[in-house]
Amino acid sequence: MTDRPKDRVLIFDTTLRDGEQSPGATMTHAEKLEIAELLDDMGVDIIEAGFPVASEGDFRAVKEIAERSKQAVICGLARANPTDIDRCWEAVKHAERPRIHTFIGTSPLHRAIPNLDKDQMAERIEQTVTHARNLCDNVQWSPMDATRTEWDYLCRVVEIAIKAGATTINIPDTVGYTAPNESADLIRRLIATVPGADEIVFATHCHNDLGMATANSLAAVEGGARQIECTINGLGERAGNTALEEVVMALRTRGDILPYETGIDTRKIMHISRRVATVSGFPVQFNKAIVGKNAFAHESGIHQDGMLKNAETFEIMRPEDVGLAATNLVMGKHSGRAALRAKLKDLGVEVGDNQLKDLFVRFKELADRKKEVYDEDILALVTATTTDG
Ligand code: KIV
Ligand code: ZN
Repeated sequence: MTDRPKDRVLIFDTTLRDGEQSPGATMTHAEKLEIAELLDDMGVDIIEAGFPVASEGDFRAVKEIAERSKQAVICGLARANPTDIDRCWEAVKHAERPRIHTFIGTSPLHRAIPNLDKDQMAERIEQTVTHARNLCDNVQWSPMDATRTEWDYLCRVVEIAIKAGATTINIPDTVGYTAPNESADLIRRLIATVPGADEIVFATHCHNDLGMATANSLAAVEGGARQIECTINGLGERAGNTALEEVVMALRTRGDILPYETGIDTRKIMHISRRVATVSGFPVQFNKAIVGKNAFAHESGIHQDGMLKNAETFEIMRPEDVGLAATNLVMGKHSGRAALRAKLKDLGVEVGDNQLKDLFVRFKELADRKKEVYDEDILALVTATTTDG
């Protein structure tokens, strides 16, 4: 353990904006309000509630989330033009703590879309960040596709945005292209190079196209970022965004090498994960870290035996810390006698050694035929051994 002081990392949740952009993940108005309330209650620092100019529905949702917000900063997204920014402000201004998040793609590929050269884009950034800052004290600016933007140009536009009044600079890895060492390095070098960088917060926003979003976000924190942008269950376009539950639990579990704190009440993770899966229609994969059905489940005899003796043998987190009632010992063909005895005890069934021996044989026969043996199957076996015996 290190006795370095823990630094606070802000958690910025974009389930309702980047997450909802996943094809097919559209949520109803009532569902968005419910998820926003759960995020606020679990201690998320900033909720990106939507993209107000995108539709009348998005505007209404952001406005109502802003009106109902309790602790969290409520943020809306806006492209780099006054119409988007004004519409965003109209929606978020109802929050106790509003934020405008404005962005533009700065990499060569993204600059080609609005057909702006470097100078024209720099001017647009200066004007739009100034415009946003005249409306709101809390302005976030993002150079979209930052990780594929030329280094000199990235420094130049970040400096312009800071001078124009941005209070948070977000560095998006829009296409999930970066690797952890680059992610840390990029933030570290920006902080060391850009004038004024030490007066604002740097954020990291990673996509998971190569499965590195969580590692890249944590590396960015090591490089000096103090805001992680993420979504529940990693919901998001293509392979998704950084998963909130993964970064939060990694920081909590590995405080020895990642000495940073968040304000998240981790016991609320499981409930919100299930609600987001249900309302978005995106089920969570069984072996998903932290929130998957199997994340705290054990079937093999050796693992179950170890778990029964000392949970730390095969678990690095306590299930109750993420809001699960208990570890799940899945009864199947790999389970051993110790697990069967523990399961019977859980079910309130007392058996002697001979009956356990008999039950174990029948249980193995059944488990060979069935993928998973449920509590009812075990109770039926108990009845059978009692009647037959
Ligand atoms: O991935 C991205 O670049 C974004 C921006 C709008 C921040 O979501
Ligand atoms: Zn994104």
